[in-house]
Amino acid sequence: MTADQVKVHPVPERLLDASKNPVPYVDSMEKYKAMWTESVEKPDQFFGKLANELLTWSKPFNTVRHGSFEQGDVAWFLEGELNVSYNCIDRHALANPNKVAVIHEGDELNKVRKITYGELLREVCQMANTLKNLGVRKGDAVAIYMPMIPEAIVAMLACARIGAVHSVVFAGFSAESLRDRVIDCSARVVITSDEGRRGGKSVATKRIVDEALGTNQTQVENVIVFRRTGAHIDWVEHRDLWWHDEMAKARSFCPPEPMNAEDPLFLLYTSGSTGTPKGILHTTGGYILGAAATVKYIFDYHEGDIHACMADIGWVTGHTYIVYGPLALGGTTVLFESTPTYPDPSRFWELIEKHKITQFYTAPTAIRALRRLGDQWVEKHDLSSLRVIGSVGEPINPEAWDWYNEKVGRGQCAVVDTYWQTETGSIIISPLPGSHPTKPGSATLPFFGIKPEILDPTTGKIIEESHETGVLAISQPWPSMARSVFNNHSRFVETYLKPYPGYYFTGDGAYRDEDGYIWVQGRVDDVINVSGHRLSTAEIESALVHHGAVAEAAVIGGHDDLTGQCIHAFVSVRPNVDASQGLDKELTILVRKIIGPFATPKRIYIVSDHPKTRSGKIMRRILRKIVNGEQDSLGDISTLADQSVVPKLIALVHDGR
Ligand code: PRX
Repeated sequence: MTADQVKVHPVPERLLDASKNPVPYVDSMEKYKAMWTESVEKPDQFFGKLANELLTWSKPFNTVRHGSFEQGDVAWFLEGELNVSYNCIDRHALANPNKVAVIHEGDELNKVRKITYGELLREVCQMANTLKNLGVRKGDAVAIYMPMIPEAIVAMLACARIGAVHSVVFAGFSAESLRDRVIDCSARVVITSDEGRRGGKSVATKRIVDEALGTNQTQVENVIVFRRTGAHIDWVEHRDLWWHDEMAKARSFCPPEPMNAEDPLFLLYTSGSTGTPKGILHTTGGYILGAAATVKYIFDYHEGDIHACMADIGWVTGHTYIVYGPLALGGTTVLFESTPTYPDPSRFWELIEKHKITQFYTAPTAIRALRRLGDQWVEKHDLSSLRVIGSVGEPINPEAWDWYNEKVGRGQCAVVDTYWQTETGSIIISPLPGSHPTKPGSATLPFFGIKPEILDPTTGKIIEESHETGVLAISQPWPSMARSVFNNHSRFVETYLKPYPGYYFTGDGAYRDEDGYIWVQGRVDDVINVSGHRLSTAEIESALVHHGAVAEAAVIGGHDDLTGQCIHAFVSVRPNVDASQGLDKELTILVRKIIGPFATPKRIYIVSDHPKTRSGKIMRRILRKIVNGEQDSLGDISTLADQSVVPKLIALVHDGR
């Protein structure tokens, strides 16, 4: 987008009016710049102070920062000890036990459960003791496969309390994906529920866990099952335990385990360029500081606010902005079990009105879907409690941004387009509500401690010119960045630190505009982003070739107005296979079974051949251009072994022939 097409939105006046709402912590661009400059030039001073201000340490740290990208040994707050569950619960429960920590809005309308800090402390302690009774010790991994219910938060914090490393698996993942993740982290305990409810439908969580674990095919010794719906489920004697039975036996206080700042807190699997998902490892002190600091400054959290993040706890956004960030600050967090359109498209807006939500955080795909359904749903609700509305997961298109700003924010809220990743732990590029003029489509400027650069993809040199796209990299470590890939540190170094020595490589393309604002363009690697869900093309291809009829598969991301990107698969079949008989349906089912329903391909093309180089490499760039209607600018195709496949592919994709 050129500079003259971009509309700049100043900070809404209402936000700076102290008679209407709390004054934002950072209320001018000068203040932001001064704080940011200190944070990158004197990080020891800046983060040393912030870590003592926002967190409670059982043993102080002496060293703020250690290590480098070159050595891959980044560490923060080295000698410090703290417990994340103490920081997220005890210190607030002791001061104010009756304050609501979690508001659970159930799938069914009007099914609301409020959990105070006092109650949360007791439940987390009981679950922590339950895990201890089952032999879970500091450093052990626990897998959590749960719907959006408060017990999922209890399970996560119980792990944090005893120093167990949780690995939450999104409940949309299939049994096979769950099994891979459970095996990779050697979890001995899995926590689940009998079923989940979402949009009026049941999700068979326990059945999927049973399928994933098979008959003793994994090292899992116990499955703890929370009763959510009361549906009949299969029961494996000696392995399965009811949540309520175990909780009833367990003492309701459990001392928090003192953890070193660099002890692992959790693993979260995410997709990269290659086939197998990586267990991204986050540690204790730096992660919780990033979570708390971004909720404070980017969501401008003040005492009494009601913070609502609509992500699933199975993704990093749910970890940081439903659970850890808001609770670390002693806030009230909303846990939403349903969907934006159940029972009708006013569900989000009703939620905001009902609970007087002050911060609301969702994804562009949801905004686009709701915008399409018409303004009447949003217009009939009183959304005046809102101060900050956020977007995450993919670039937000200006039309969706404008609608969000005008219809949801009523032009009176800060719109924060927040850029970050599973690996960054917390938001790294975003406006701050009281200081940044915003531009629809730009995540604007870096958060404290983040020094981004745009690099030339081939030379790795810094691009100084504005409006020139390169790859987005970060030039110095920050507290909440991932420390490793579980059990595979060299993969961590190879993926993020080696491509551009001295930098953390994000995998995204971006440019800076004349004001230094960053415009993230999307992934430059083989990762695609469907409705904010991150998928690797290699992972989908490997699922497709599981089918006996498939010889080769190539998957690319096509543009989609609603979901951002969508999956297009090009599949060639083995000789003598009849592909006319519903093969595409079988392949769709297979991908859903191996990865999960959210990985469903939008289109599967059965092709006689792929566009290949002479050495046999599929040129996915050509497929991508054809799918996205750019067949007139395919670039150099002279390296193809057989150029005649190109017109055939164009005819197949665009004319269905
Ligand atoms: O491509 C970027 C995109 O989402 C990727 C990270 O995905 P994941 O690890 O699943 O985390 C998603 C939520 C933090 C990034 O590499 N992305 C995320 N937020 C934005 C974005 N792209 C543009 N603008 C954003 N605000």
